[in-house]
Amino acid sequence: MRLAGKVAIITGAANGLGLEAARVFLREGAKVAMVDYDAVAGEKRVSELQAEGEATFYQVDVSNQAQVVEMVRMVKERFGKIDILINNAGITKDNMLLKMSNEDFQKVMDINVNGVFNCTQAVVPHMLEQGQGKIINTSSVSGVYGNVGQTNYAASKAAVVGMTKSWAKEFGRKGINVNAVAPGFVETSMVETVPEKVIQGLLQVIPLQRLGKPSDIANAYLFLASDESDYVNGTVLHVDGGIMM
Ligand code: CAA
Ligand code: NAI
Repeated sequence: MRLAGKVAIITGAANGLGLEAARVFLREGAKVAMVDYDAVAGEKRVSELQAEGEATFYQVDVSNQAQVVEMVRMVKERFGKIDILINNAGITKDNMLLKMSNEDFQKVMDINVNGVFNCTQAVVPHMLEQGQGKIINTSSVSGVYGNVGQTNYAASKAAVVGMTKSWAKEFGRKGINVNAVAPGFVETSMVETVPEKVIQGLLQVIPLQRLGKPSDIANAYLFLASDESDYVNGTVLHVDGGIMM
Protein backbone atom coordinates (compact mmCIF):
# COMPACT_ATOMS: atom_id res chain seq x y z
CA MET A 1 0.00 0.00 0.00
CA ARG A 2 1.90 3.00 -1.29
CA LEU A 3 -0.49 5.63 0.14
CA ALA A 4 -1.46 3.96 3.43
CA GLY A 5 -3.05 6.47 5.80
CA LYS A 6 -2.79 9.40 3.38
CA VAL A 7 -5.67 11.77 2.69
CA ALA A 8 -6.04 12.92 -0.92
CA ILE A 9 -8.24 15.50 -2.62
CA ILE A 10 -8.74 14.69 -6.31
CA THR A 11 -10.58 17.24 -8.45
CA GLY A 12 -12.47 16.17 -11.56
CA ALA A 13 -12.88 12.75 -9.94
CA ALA A 14 -16.32 11.89 -11.32
CA ASN A 15 -15.00 10.85 -14.72
CA GLY A 16 -11.94 9.99 -16.75
CA LEU A 17 -8.47 10.40 -15.30
CA GLY A 18 -9.64 11.68 -11.91
CA LEU A 19 -11.99 8.74 -11.43
CA GLU A 20 -9.24 6.26 -12.29
CA ALA A 21 -6.90 8.08 -9.89
CA ALA A 22 -9.50 7.79 -7.12
CA ARG A 23 -9.73 4.06 -7.76
CA VAL A 24 -5.94 3.59 -7.71
CA PHE A 25 -5.45 5.78 -4.64
CA LEU A 26 -8.12 3.87 -2.68
CA ARG A 27 -6.48 0.58 -3.66
CA GLU A 28 -3.17 1.95 -2.34
CA GLY A 29 -4.68 2.79 1.06
CA ALA A 30 -5.55 6.49 0.73
CA LYS A 31 -8.75 8.13 1.92
CA VAL A 32 -10.09 10.10 -1.02
CA ALA A 33 -12.15 13.28 -1.27
CA MET A 34 -13.62 13.12 -4.77
CA VAL A 35 -14.38 16.63 -6.03
CA ASP A 36 -16.39 17.41 -9.15
CA TYR A 37 -19.17 19.71 -10.33
CA ASP A 38 -20.97 16.77 -11.95
CA ALA A 39 -23.04 15.59 -8.98
CA VAL A 40 -24.88 12.82 -10.83
CA ALA A 41 -21.71 11.05 -11.94
CA GLY A 42 -19.92 11.92 -8.68
CA GLU A 43 -22.56 10.39 -6.38
CA LYS A 44 -22.77 7.29 -8.56
CA ARG A 45 -19.01 6.80 -8.69
CA VAL A 46 -18.43 7.38 -5.00
CA SER A 47 -21.05 4.80 -4.08
CA GLU A 48 -19.36 2.28 -6.40
CA LEU A 49 -15.92 3.02 -4.95
CA GLN A 50 -16.89 2.95 -1.29
CA ALA A 51 -16.43 -0.83 -1.29
CA GLU A 52 -12.75 -0.25 -2.05
CA GLY A 53 -12.02 2.23 0.75
CA GLU A 54 -13.02 5.51 2.36
CA ALA A 55 -14.24 7.88 -0.33
CA THR A 56 -16.46 10.95 -0.06
CA PHE A 57 -17.90 13.07 -2.86
CA TYR A 58 -18.02 16.87 -2.76
CA GLN A 59 -19.94 18.78 -5.43
CA VAL A 60 -17.75 21.77 -6.14
CA ASP A 61 -17.01 24.01 -9.11
CA VAL A 62 -13.28 24.52 -8.74
CA SER A 63 -13.53 27.93 -10.43
CA ASN A 64 -15.72 29.09 -7.52
CA GLN A 65 -13.35 30.11 -4.75
CA ALA A 66 -15.98 30.14 -1.98
CA GLN A 67 -17.06 26.58 -2.82
CA VAL A 68 -13.44 25.41 -2.85
CA VAL A 69 -12.67 27.00 0.53
CA GLU A 70 -15.75 25.37 2.07
CA MET A 71 -14.86 21.96 0.55
CA VAL A 72 -11.33 22.10 1.95
CA ARG A 73 -12.73 23.03 5.37
CA MET A 74 -15.07 20.03 5.26
CA VAL A 75 -12.34 17.63 4.12
CA LYS A 76 -10.06 18.78 6.96
CA GLU A 77 -12.92 18.41 9.44
CA ARG A 78 -13.78 14.92 8.24
CA PHE A 79 -10.32 13.43 7.66
CA GLY A 80 -8.19 15.55 10.04
CA LYS A 81 -5.47 16.33 7.48
CA ILE A 82 -4.75 16.76 3.76
CA ASP A 83 -1.62 15.08 2.41
CA ILE A 84 -2.21 15.12 -1.34
CA LEU A 85 -3.95 17.46 -3.78
CA ILE A 86 -4.45 16.37 -7.39
CA ASN A 87 -5.55 19.39 -9.47
CA ASN A 88 -7.01 17.26 -12.26
CA ALA A 89 -10.33 18.99 -13.13
CA GLY A 90 -10.22 20.61 -16.55
CA ILE A 91 -12.19 21.34 -19.70
CA THR A 92 -11.66 22.02 -23.40
CA LYS A 93 -13.56 24.39 -25.66
CA ASP A 94 -11.65 23.87 -28.89
CA ASN A 95 -11.87 26.08 -31.93
CA MET A 96 -9.59 27.65 -34.48
CA LEU A 97 -8.32 31.02 -33.24
CA LEU A 98 -10.41 33.11 -35.61
CA LYS A 99 -13.61 31.33 -34.52
CA MET A 100 -12.86 31.27 -30.77
CA SER A 101 -15.14 33.46 -28.67
CA ASN A 102 -13.88 35.51 -25.78
CA GLU A 103 -16.31 33.57 -23.54
CA ASP A 104 -14.77 30.23 -24.55
CA PHE A 105 -11.28 31.58 -23.97
CA GLN A 106 -12.23 32.89 -20.54
CA LYS A 107 -14.22 29.81 -19.44
CA VAL A 108 -11.26 27.53 -20.05
CA MET A 109 -8.95 29.86 -18.16
CA ASP A 110 -11.45 30.13 -15.26
CA ILE A 111 -11.53 26.38 -14.73
CA ASN A 112 -8.08 25.21 -15.84
CA VAL A 113 -6.09 28.08 -14.29
CA ASN A 114 -8.18 29.76 -11.60
CA GLY A 115 -9.46 26.36 -10.46
CA VAL A 116 -5.91 25.15 -9.84
CA PHE A 117 -5.08 28.44 -8.09
CA ASN A 118 -8.20 28.24 -5.87
CA CYS A 119 -7.64 24.65 -4.76
CA THR A 120 -3.94 25.08 -4.10
CA GLN A 121 -4.38 28.31 -2.19
CA ALA A 122 -7.02 26.70 0.02
CA VAL A 123 -5.01 23.52 0.70
CA VAL A 124 -1.49 24.88 1.19
CA PRO A 125 -2.07 26.38 4.68
CA HIS A 126 -2.98 22.89 5.95
CA MET A 127 0.10 21.36 4.34
CA LEU A 128 2.29 24.11 5.83
CA GLU A 129 0.82 23.34 9.24
CA GLN A 130 1.68 19.65 8.76
CA GLY A 131 5.14 20.44 7.33
CA GLN A 132 4.53 18.12 4.40
CA GLY A 133 2.35 17.65 1.33
CA LYS A 134 2.27 16.64 -2.31
CA ILE A 135 0.58 18.75 -4.97
CA ILE A 136 0.17 17.33 -8.47
CA ASN A 137 -1.15 19.54 -11.25
CA THR A 138 -2.43 18.30 -14.59
CA SER A 139 -0.92 20.03 -17.59
CA SER A 140 -1.03 18.55 -21.10
CA VAL A 141 1.04 17.87 -24.17
CA SER A 142 -0.92 20.82 -25.63
CA GLY A 143 0.34 23.16 -22.91
CA VAL A 144 3.95 22.20 -23.55
CA TYR A 145 4.00 21.98 -27.36
CA GLY A 146 0.77 23.76 -28.45
CA ASN A 147 -2.04 22.23 -30.51
CA VAL A 148 -4.20 23.24 -33.48
CA GLY A 149 -7.60 24.44 -32.25
CA GLN A 150 -6.54 24.84 -28.62
CA THR A 151 -5.41 28.44 -28.08
CA ASN A 152 -7.35 28.69 -24.81
CA TYR A 153 -6.56 25.21 -23.53
CA ALA A 154 -2.86 25.31 -24.47
CA ALA A 155 -2.52 28.70 -22.75
CA SER A 156 -4.21 27.32 -19.63
CA LYS A 157 -2.05 24.20 -19.50
CA ALA A 158 1.13 26.24 -20.05
CA ALA A 159 -0.01 28.38 -17.12
CA VAL A 160 -0.28 25.20 -15.06
CA VAL A 161 3.42 24.52 -15.74
CA GLY A 162 4.29 28.05 -14.63
CA MET A 163 2.29 27.73 -11.42
CA THR A 164 3.80 24.32 -10.73
CA LYS A 165 7.37 25.59 -10.97
CA SER A 166 6.62 28.73 -8.97
CA TRP A 167 5.03 26.76 -6.15
CA ALA A 168 7.82 24.17 -6.22
CA LYS A 169 10.23 27.03 -5.52
CA GLU A 170 7.94 28.74 -3.01
CA PHE A 171 7.09 25.72 -0.88
CA GLY A 172 9.95 23.25 -1.39
CA ARG A 173 11.70 24.44 1.75
CA LYS A 174 8.46 23.92 3.69
CA GLY A 175 8.26 20.22 2.82
CA ILE A 176 5.68 20.50 0.06
CA ASN A 177 6.54 18.92 -3.32
CA VAL A 178 4.77 20.40 -6.32
CA ASN A 179 4.90 18.62 -9.67
CA ALA A 180 2.86 18.33 -12.85
CA VAL A 181 1.87 15.51 -15.14
CA ALA A 182 1.58 16.36 -18.84
CA PRO A 183 -0.56 13.62 -20.41
CA GLY A 184 -0.66 13.03 -24.13
CA PHE A 185 -3.94 11.95 -25.73
CA VAL A 186 -5.74 9.62 -23.35
CA GLU A 187 -8.93 7.62 -23.91
CA THR A 188 -11.53 9.65 -21.99
CA SER A 189 -14.57 11.66 -23.02
CA MET A 190 -12.28 14.65 -23.63
CA VAL A 191 -10.65 12.96 -26.60
CA GLU A 192 -14.00 11.83 -28.06
CA THR A 193 -14.38 15.33 -29.56
CA VAL A 194 -11.24 14.95 -31.65
CA PRO A 195 -12.04 14.24 -35.33
CA GLU A 196 -11.08 10.71 -36.44
CA LYS A 197 -8.75 12.14 -39.08
CA VAL A 198 -6.76 13.92 -36.36
CA ILE A 199 -6.61 10.75 -34.21
CA GLN A 200 -5.24 8.78 -37.13
CA GLY A 201 -2.59 11.47 -37.63
CA LEU A 202 -1.67 11.30 -33.96
CA LEU A 203 -1.21 7.54 -34.06
CA GLN A 204 1.41 8.06 -36.78
CA VAL A 205 3.53 10.27 -34.52
CA ILE A 206 3.18 8.47 -31.18
CA PRO A 207 6.17 6.11 -30.95
CA LEU A 208 4.15 3.71 -28.74
CA GLN A 209 1.44 3.76 -31.45
CA ARG A 210 -1.54 3.97 -29.13
CA LEU A 211 -3.48 6.52 -27.14
CA GLY A 212 -2.97 6.56 -23.38
CA LYS A 213 -5.22 4.71 -20.94
CA PRO A 214 -6.52 6.45 -17.80
CA SER A 215 -4.41 4.03 -15.72
CA ASP A 216 -1.25 5.32 -17.45
CA ILE A 217 -1.92 8.73 -15.95
CA ALA A 218 -3.25 7.49 -12.60
CA ASN A 219 0.01 5.58 -12.12
CA ALA A 220 2.00 8.77 -12.70
CA TYR A 221 -0.19 10.60 -10.16
CA LEU A 222 0.44 7.72 -7.76
CA PHE A 223 4.22 7.95 -8.10
CA LEU A 224 4.20 11.71 -7.54
CA ALA A 225 1.84 11.37 -4.56
CA SER A 226 3.85 8.59 -2.90
CA ASP A 227 7.00 8.74 -0.77
CA GLU A 228 8.90 7.29 -3.75
CA SER A 229 8.99 10.77 -5.31
CA ASP A 230 10.21 12.63 -2.20
CA TYR A 231 13.15 14.16 -4.09
CA VAL A 232 11.12 15.06 -7.18
CA ASN A 233 10.04 18.72 -7.19
CA GLY A 234 9.04 21.19 -9.92
CA THR A 235 9.09 18.57 -12.63
CA VAL A 236 6.70 18.07 -15.53
CA LEU A 237 6.31 14.34 -16.04
CA HIS A 238 5.41 13.62 -19.66
CA VAL A 239 3.13 10.62 -19.99
CA ASP A 240 2.41 10.71 -23.68
CA GLY A 241 3.89 7.68 -25.41
CA GLY A 242 6.76 9.87 -26.59
CA ILE A 243 4.59 11.99 -28.90
CA MET A 244 6.99 14.95 -28.70
CA MET A 245 10.68 14.64 -27.97
N1 CAA B 1 -3.75 18.52 -35.11
C1 CAA B 1 -3.48 18.74 -36.42
N2 CAA B 1 -4.37 19.26 -37.27
C2 CAA B 1 -5.58 19.56 -36.80
C3 CAA B 1 -5.93 19.37 -35.46
C4 CAA B 1 -4.95 18.81 -34.60
N3 CAA B 1 -5.18 18.62 -33.31
N4 CAA B 1 -7.20 19.78 -35.28
C5 CAA B 1 -7.63 20.20 -36.48
N5 CAA B 1 -6.66 20.05 -37.40
C6 CAA B 1 -6.73 20.41 -38.81
C7 CAA B 1 -7.85 19.65 -39.52
O1 CAA B 1 -7.40 18.37 -39.89
C8 CAA B 1 -8.13 20.56 -40.69
O2 CAA B 1 -7.13 20.35 -41.66
P1 CAA B 1 -7.45 20.56 -43.23
O3 CAA B 1 -7.79 22.02 -43.37
O4 CAA B 1 -6.21 20.15 -43.88
O5 CAA B 1 -8.63 19.65 -43.51
C9 CAA B 1 -7.93 21.95 -40.11
O6 CAA B 1 -7.11 21.77 -38.93
C10 CAA B 1 -9.22 22.60 -39.68
O7 CAA B 1 -9.95 21.66 -38.88
P2 CAA B 1 -11.51 21.42 -39.10
O8 CAA B 1 -11.83 21.29 -40.56
O9 CAA B 1 -11.91 20.31 -38.20
O10 CAA B 1 -12.06 22.83 -38.62
P3 CAA B 1 -13.33 23.11 -37.74
O11 CAA B 1 -13.41 24.60 -37.62
O12 CAA B 1 -14.51 22.38 -38.26
O13 CAA B 1 -13.00 22.49 -36.31
C11 CAA B 1 -11.69 22.15 -34.34
C12 CAA B 1 -11.89 22.99 -35.59
C13 CAA B 1 -12.89 22.36 -33.40
C14 CAA B 1 -10.42 22.69 -33.68
C15 CAA B 1 -11.60 20.65 -34.70
O14 CAA B 1 -10.70 20.49 -35.77
C16 CAA B 1 -11.08 19.84 -33.56
O15 CAA B 1 -11.82 19.53 -32.64
N6 CAA B 1 -9.80 19.48 -33.60
C17 CAA B 1 -9.15 18.71 -32.56
C18 CAA B 1 -8.45 19.63 -31.60
C19 CAA B 1 -7.72 18.77 -30.62
O16 CAA B 1 -6.75 18.12 -30.96
N7 CAA B 1 -8.19 18.79 -29.36
C20 CAA B 1 -7.65 17.94 -28.34
C21 CAA B 1 -8.80 17.50 -27.44
S1 CAA B 1 -8.24 16.30 -26.25
C22 CAA B 1 -7.39 17.23 -25.17
O17 CAA B 1 -7.41 18.42 -25.17
C23 CAA B 1 -6.58 16.50 -24.17
C24 CAA B 1 -5.20 16.96 -24.19
O18 CAA B 1 -4.76 17.63 -23.26
C25 CAA B 1 -4.34 16.57 -25.31
P1 NAI C 1 -13.02 14.27 -18.43
O1 NAI C 1 -13.84 15.30 -19.12
O2 NAI C 1 -13.26 12.83 -18.66
O3 NAI C 1 -13.08 14.52 -16.85
C1 NAI C 1 -12.91 15.80 -16.33
C2 NAI C 1 -13.71 15.90 -15.05
O4 NAI C 1 -13.50 17.23 -14.53
C3 NAI C 1 -15.21 15.74 -15.28
O5 NAI C 1 -15.73 14.84 -14.32
C4 NAI C 1 -15.77 17.13 -15.09
O6 NAI C 1 -17.08 17.14 -14.56
C5 NAI C 1 -14.76 17.72 -14.10
N1 NAI C 1 -14.76 19.16 -14.12
C6 NAI C 1 -14.65 19.97 -15.21
N2 NAI C 1 -14.74 21.26 -14.81
C7 NAI C 1 -14.88 21.25 -13.47
C8 NAI C 1 -15.06 22.27 -12.52
N3 NAI C 1 -15.10 23.56 -12.85
N4 NAI C 1 -15.16 21.92 -11.21
C9 NAI C 1 -15.15 20.62 -10.86
N5 NAI C 1 -15.04 19.62 -11.72
C10 NAI C 1 -14.91 19.93 -13.02
O7 NAI C 1 -11.51 14.67 -18.78
P2 NAI C 1 -10.18 13.87 -18.50
O8 NAI C 1 -9.65 13.42 -19.79
O9 NAI C 1 -10.34 12.94 -17.38
O10 NAI C 1 -9.25 15.10 -18.03
C11 NAI C 1 -8.72 15.21 -16.74
C12 NAI C 1 -7.60 16.22 -16.79
O11 NAI C 1 -6.57 15.75 -17.62
C13 NAI C 1 -8.00 17.59 -17.34
O12 NAI C 1 -7.33 18.61 -16.64
C14 NAI C 1 -7.52 17.53 -18.75
O13 NAI C 1 -7.28 18.80 -19.28
C15 NAI C 1 -6.24 16.74 -18.56
N6 NAI C 1 -5.74 16.08 -19.75
C16 NAI C 1 -6.48 15.13 -20.40
C17 NAI C 1 -5.98 14.51 -21.50
C18 NAI C 1 -6.73 13.49 -22.27
O14 NAI C 1 -6.28 13.15 -23.37
N7 NAI C 1 -7.83 12.95 -21.78
C19 NAI C 1 -4.65 14.84 -22.01
C20 NAI C 1 -3.95 15.84 -21.25
C21 NAI C 1 -4.49 16.42 -20.15
